[in-house]
Order: sequence, then C-alpha cells, then structure tokens
Amino acid sequence: MATGESSLQNITQEIKSRADIVSIVERYVKLRKSGKNYQGICPFHQEKTPSFIVSPDIQIYKCFGCGKGGDVFSFLQEIEGIDFVEARDKLADELGIKIEKGVKPKAISILEEINQIALDFFQEELNSKTGAHARGYLEGRKIRKESISKFGIGFAPGYNSLYKFITTKNRNKYRNAELLSSGLFVDKGSGIRDKFFNRIMFPIRSVGGAVIGFSGRVLPGNDYGPKYMNTPETAVFHKGETLFGIYESKNEIRKSGYCIMCEGQTDVISSHAAGVKNIVAPLGTGLTEKQISLLKNYTNDIVLMFDSDTAGISAVKRAFTLAAAQGMDVYAASPSPYKDIDEMIQKAPESYIELLKKKTDAFTYLLTKEIENKDLSDLEDYNQTRKFINILLSPIKEKQLYSFYSKKAEKITGINNQETLDPAKSVSRNFETKKDIKNHPDNREQYFLAIILKADFTKKLSKLKTSIFQDPLVKEVLNYLKQKPDIALKQLAETEDLSEDAVNLVKTLLLQSDIIMSGNVDTNKELNHIYLLIYRGYMDKRLSNLRTKLVIAENQEDTKSAEELVEKIKKLSNKIKNLKNDKIS
Ligand code: GTP
Ligand code: MN
Repeated sequence: MATGESSLQNITQEIKSRADIVSIVERYVKLRKSGKNYQGICPFHQEKTPSFIVSPDIQIYKCFGCGKGGDVFSFLQEIEGIDFVEARDKLADELGIKIEKGVKPKAISILEEINQIALDFFQEELNSKTGAHARGYLEGRKIRKESISKFGIGFAPGYNSLYKFITTKNRNKYRNAELLSSGLFVDKGSGIRDKFFNRIMFPIRSVGGAVIGFSGRVLPGNDYGPKYMNTPETAVFHKGETLFGIYESKNEIRKSGYCIMCEGQTDVISSHAAGVKNIVAPLGTGLTEKQISLLKNYTNDIVLMFDSDTAGISAVKRAFTLAAAQGMDVYAASPSPYKDIDEMIQKAPESYIELLKKKTDAFTYLLTKEIENKDLSDLEDYNQTRKFINILLSPIKEKQLYSFYSKKAEKITGINNQETLDPAKSVSRNFETKKDIKNHPDNREQYFLAIILKADFTKKLSKLKTSIFQDPLVKEVLNYLKQKPDIALKQLAETEDLSEDAVNLVKTLLLQSDIIMSGNVDTNKELNHIYLLIYRGYMDKRLSNLRTKLVIAENQEDTKSAEELVEKIKKLSNKIKNLKNDKIS
C-alpha cells in the first residue's frame, strides 16, 4: 500500500500533538517558567535579557527581540539548519512514529513520472535533427553544454510528438485523464494534443529534485502564445510555491549564507555557469509569501536583483515587504545599465561579481531611488516621502529591525518616522515599548482580548456587544469566540476559520500575556475596568459625532433636526455619566 498524502499529513499532526515543544527547546535553551509560558535567552540572536518565549498551551515559540517564531518543526529547522522533511523525520524517529521515508502518494508519483518521461523526450529532441534550430538558438545565447545537461534543458517540437511518444513507448501505461492532469497536454474536444509547441523547455524541479513542470520559451520565428509558457497548476506544480533553481542552488545557498533572487530562468542558468550558484527566480509572477517561506529553510539573507525599470522597482518593493515581514535581511542591487543578470554576465562578468560585493540593504536602495528627484524642503515631497517610509516599514514586526531601518531613513532623509507610526498596526512593537498599554487608547482593545485569553474568560462573551470595538482583528476574534466559547487555546491558535492576521494576533497576545499582565492582577476587575474604558471611548465618539451633526444642522438653520440632536445628546451624556454601574459579567 502506498502512503497517501493524507496519512503524511496525519503523521505531521500526530507529531505535533505528541511532541512537547518546551522539552525540545530546552535541549538548546535554558528556560524559566513565567506565568503560563516559559522564557529564555533567544538562541537566534545576541541578547542579554530574555525575550524568547515558549507557550506549552499552543505549542509555539516566539522571540520578541528578533521576531523568529513558529512550531516544533520550524524550531528544529532553524536551530539545526535542516529542512521540514528532515525535521519531521527526526521527530518521528524520536517519538517512534513510523514514516515510510520518500514514499509518495500514487497520483503524485505518476505526475512526476510523466514529467520525467517528458524531460527525457525533450532532451532527446534537442539533440536530434529536429532540434537543430533550438540548439542554434541556445548556442547564440551562450548557454553551454554543461548548463544544458545540468538544468535538463530540452526542446518541444509539438505536433503531438510527446503524446505519441508517451503512448507508444509506454504502451498506454497512463490513462488519458492522468496524462491531462500533468498539464503537458490539452484536450480541445478533438482529442489530446501537446501543450508545448516549438519551444525551448526549462524543467522546473521541486526542492527534492523531481521534475514537476516546465517553462517553455518561444523560439524566434514562433509567434504563437506568450514568450514564456508555464505548466498550468497541477497537483504537483504550484507556480506561487516554487522557485526556479531551488533544487540546483539549495546547497550553495546554505553554504554561502545568502540567496540571490533574479527575474528569469536564463539569469539563473548564466549565473551558475559564471560560478555564482546561489540564485533562484520566481516563475514570471510577483514573489509570494510561500516562496519566501521556502527560501527561509535555507537562509535568512536575500539579495534582490531585479531590473531597474519601474516594474523592477515595484518587484523589489513587494519582495522587501514580504521578506522583511518574515524577518529576513533583504538586500538589493541593480544590473543596470544591463537589462538583466544574463546580459550583464555575457557582457561584463567581472561587474556581476563586483555588484554582489557592493549590495546595499533593500530599504536604502528603494528610499534612495524614491527621493532621487525630490526636494525634501518642499512640503509635498516631504509628506510623500514620509508616507513612503511608513508604508515600507509598517509590515516589519521585529522591534530591532524596525528601529534599524528607521534610523537609516532618518539618516538619508532627516525624517524621523518613529513619531508618525500608526501604533494600531504593530501589536508586538507596542506591547514591548509601552508598559502602560492599558492606558493607551490604541491598545485597549487588544489588552481586553489578552485578558480574555489569559484568564480563560471566553464564556463571559455571550452578551458582549462587539460592535463597540474598533480594531477589526479584535472584533473578528471576539465574534468568533462568542460562537465557540469552549474552544481550546491550541485550536484557536490553529483555526482556519479566522484570518491569518487574527490568528497571529491571538498568538502574540497569548505569548505576551505575562508581560502584559504581570503581578497579582485581579483579572475580573481588570476586565470590567478595560471594558468600561472601551465602551466609554465608543460613547464619546458617538457623542462627538452628534455634536458635529448639531453644528451642521444649526448652520443650515434646520431647527427640527437640531432639536432632535440636542435631545439625543442629552440622553447620551446622561448614559455616559451613569456608566460606572455597567458590567459585562
Ligand atoms: P530571455 O528573453 O529568454 O532572456 O528571458 P528573460 O528572462 O530575460 O525574460 P524577461 O525579462 O522578458 O522576463 C523575465 C521572466 O518573466 C522570464 O524568465 C519568465 O519567467 C517570465 N516571463 C516572461 N514573459 C512571460 C510570459 O509571456 N508569460 C509568463 N508566464 N512568464 C513570462
Ligand atoms: Mn534575459
């Protein structure tokens, strides 16, 4: 019996439920109990006071100094420098859970088999008579024999030759439905045809090296379809989760300690040929969070080498935002005046090596470009730049990284953005810097939720009016808890019914509950006190809205509305005066 995908997932779940994160972390870090959680010196960055917290309730860890966090698997990955599968196997071994290593679900192996057959076929075709044109093209682009065989580059002639090959050579081993599910064929009603036609074929491999799809480039003279055509989404090929070159580059990424991210397949191939082998490319789309997570298994440093045109700049912005939010150190360099790395290597290989040595952090790179044609003594330019800085930095959750970039920004522009920061956006940063969080109106609602979570007060929520809450994430979590008052914290921290941001807020609050509420606080009293403050804030806001309306009505000499408004304002003011007696429990 083949192990199905679901049983691998079950095993991951079983490991998660049986492994104890506290005892695993304790092998590497000295932990001290602190309230519900454990605390220690972070193993992932230099620090003197402990900001590394482990929660036995929800089985996760988080460092509030450097931002690293995750579950048992990611902890082992990070501290041992291994990938997910290795971490899973290690834990399974320790717990005596049997895993058939390397065994894949049948449907997956069939797709990989079909792709491998296609790869062999495309390579044969490239070397055959039909491939002469394609060979000439590769030669013209200075793609060498070694590169062709290392990356498995081939040629798809089309005319249903792959379909004929796979059905005759393999004696109809595969059903048409299976062939179609590989994405290499299409059925337009008149029978099955090859999808790729007269194209150079670049295989795309999984981290483990299996061929999961192709990217086919048009040859000159073939104007049919886009310049690059990828395998469509299949059970094994997910464009947004794969990086071209990850299999070929992963060892060097680990060894060198960083990864270059470029725009295209030919850049990756040329770079390898030039001896720089720690480089990957997304497949013609903007970078995704999943691709960043994939890279994070190998390194924490990324160098963005996109074109220096406007599209390239926005690609750097997007990549910086995604990678910095996940705590990566992001650098950027531009191949300008060359179009891309490939052209640079062909025309001036030395400058490529030089460029890598000179890399600046991506934030400085972007900010310098942004202010190139600006006059910061002009108010409009100044405001635009301020906004630019805030938008770029707002996803960064690590306090130290945030302050690093803020200082850079101040040095470059003279703008101190720490003062203009929107505090509601960055939970962990606030809770660290503001000891008096409960007194700060921006934090009250999150503080309220923190008490609910810490004191297991979820049952108290049945009568709560969540409409008085402003923070959309707090509201989302409270509404959910109202429906599920009995949910275990661990389930809450893993639920897919809430948005990712909401789940992250829950985790952050649970991990910081002891910092947020130290000492002997009467949680019941505290909860009511904060609730009243929130309610009061909400009422005050309503009151001020009514007053604004009254001014407008008076200006318009609309006496009827004005009288009604005066009445409403009186009532509301009285209500606010009597608030002291309200309680939620
Ligand atoms: P060459 O012209 O072969 O050197 O390719 P390039 O890598 O320089 O191409 P370009 O800068 O035009 O595009 C960068 C990357 O975007 C390519 O490597 C592809 O991965 C992707 N790409 C380009 N054109 C298309 C397209 O038409 N469709 C899709 N899906 N991806 C494309
Ligand atoms: Mn190119």
